[in-house]
Amino acid sequence: MIYKGFLKRIYTGSAASYVAPLLICLLFIQAANADQQASGQGIYAEEQATAGKKIYEAQCGSCHGVDLMRGTSTALIGTEFVEKWGGKALQAGSSTWTGFHVGGLLAETIETMPPGVVGSVSTEEQLSVLAYVLQRNGFPSRDTALTMNSAALHDPTLKFQPTVGRIGLEQRLLVWVDRQGREESIPVPPRHYYLPRISPDGKRIAVEVHLDKPDIWIVDVESGGLRQLTHEGTNRFPLWSPDGTRILYSSDRHRELVGGERAFFDGHEVYWQAADGSGEADRLTFGEHNHGPQKWAPDGNILSFYEIHPDTYRDIWMLPFEGDGDPWPFLQTPYLEGGIGFSQDGKWLAHTSKETGRYEVVLRAFPESLPKKQVTSEGGVELVWPPGSNDLFYRNEDKRMAMEIIYGETLKVGPPRVMFEGDYVKSPGSRASWDSYDGQRFLLLKRAE
Ligand code: HEC
Repeated sequence: MIYKGFLKRIYTGSAASYVAPLLICLLFIQAANADQQASGQGIYAEEQATAGKKIYEAQCGSCHGVDLMRGTSTALIGTEFVEKWGGKALQAGSSTWTGFHVGGLLAETIETMPPGVVGSVSTEEQLSVLAYVLQRNGFPSRDTALTMNSAALHDPTLKFQPTVGRIGLEQRLLVWVDRQGREESIPVPPRHYYLPRISPDGKRIAVEVHLDKPDIWIVDVESGGLRQLTHEGTNRFPLWSPDGTRILYSSDRHRELVGGERAFFDGHEVYWQAADGSGEADRLTFGEHNHGPQKWAPDGNILSFYEIHPDTYRDIWMLPFEGDGDPWPFLQTPYLEGGIGFSQDGKWLAHTSKETGRYEVVLRAFPESLPKKQVTSEGGVELVWPPGSNDLFYRNEDKRMAMEIIYGETLKVGPPRVMFEGDYVKSPGSRASWDSYDGQRFLLLKRAE
């Protein structure tokens, strides 16, 4: 059995794209019955999707964007994409969809992608990338891989259930949690929020909202009102200026002009603009590698930012706002480092480091970087060190930890204490997906029901 739309598509293609589709078609005919399966069940293996993600990042991400969310080209995730390939919600507002034309999508991808070097990605690799695309759009997995023999490639009645709300993107809420773990909700609509940052006065939140692409939005804490701040390019990693008037973030908008191409891991630079949306955005960093804002030193005159370097991975740099204004490297090691915080006297900088093989919290003299002192030994990521707080906070698994910092001739640290534990949204790396401005109340992300 061959799905008719698939045949029609390939025979109406241009002459140049005739041979490959014919071959694919033969493969399909030969194998169509080899792998019967009912609709509504999984159609790819998790490991296949994991392998596909790597191939995607290397071969497709430069054009289709971080997390499939549109780089210079179309998004491969979201309602529009699913509808384009025949997907229909079964009823208005239904969370079950049907009709997604997996075979057609695969055939078109093999025939036309990557542009200019069609065939450079093997059929097996394309199947893995497709598995990743299906996974991100909410299709279920199974034990066996998707192959050219899979019945799913010819099944126009495939059903699947995307994650709540927008397809493929987990819907989340913003909540306050106090040191005892008591939760208080913020009246925001569910969205795919990430990396929330509280304004210095505690009244607004800057946060990534992922729709077709990530952008920075501003939340009014009291009313829960949302306002989109950035529009052009992809925009991530918000940070408030110390006076609360500006938002810094990492953007690739300048790349749109460079031959229509944006690289996947490259090309994000630090920008800032007025938090109320007035005026233009200004670019603060220039370079070959990826840059993003991290933290302000307590005097407000130095911005720390990270650089993703091909040899030394994630490094810590400083951008002074006085003197010559030239950026200088604070720490470049062969290890991943990140998650910056400054002590209130400005003499110490805390960061997470993967030097031991897993993330641990390290303190270093500022600005010399030495001496250093590793202050956790059982793992520590997602560091939060609010200005003026003697406690430094971090995450260990599901536990949110506090550690007292005692200033004196030598710096001492108290024992790590568990504040609360819970299944809140975590950031896997060094960047904190939680925040606090007073060390008493914490802003976290929670999955919407
Ligand atoms: C050099 C940039 C570039 C690269 C690399 C690239 N694509 Fe594309 N892709 C495009 C463009 C441009 C389009 C839109 C073509 C059109 O709409 O006419 C597209 C369209 C698509 C579509 C159809 C989208 C839709 O809305 O139906 C799929 C699927 C796709 N690409 C998959 C891939 C995969 C998988 C890879 C990696 C193996 C890849 N692309 C690599 C530029 C690229």
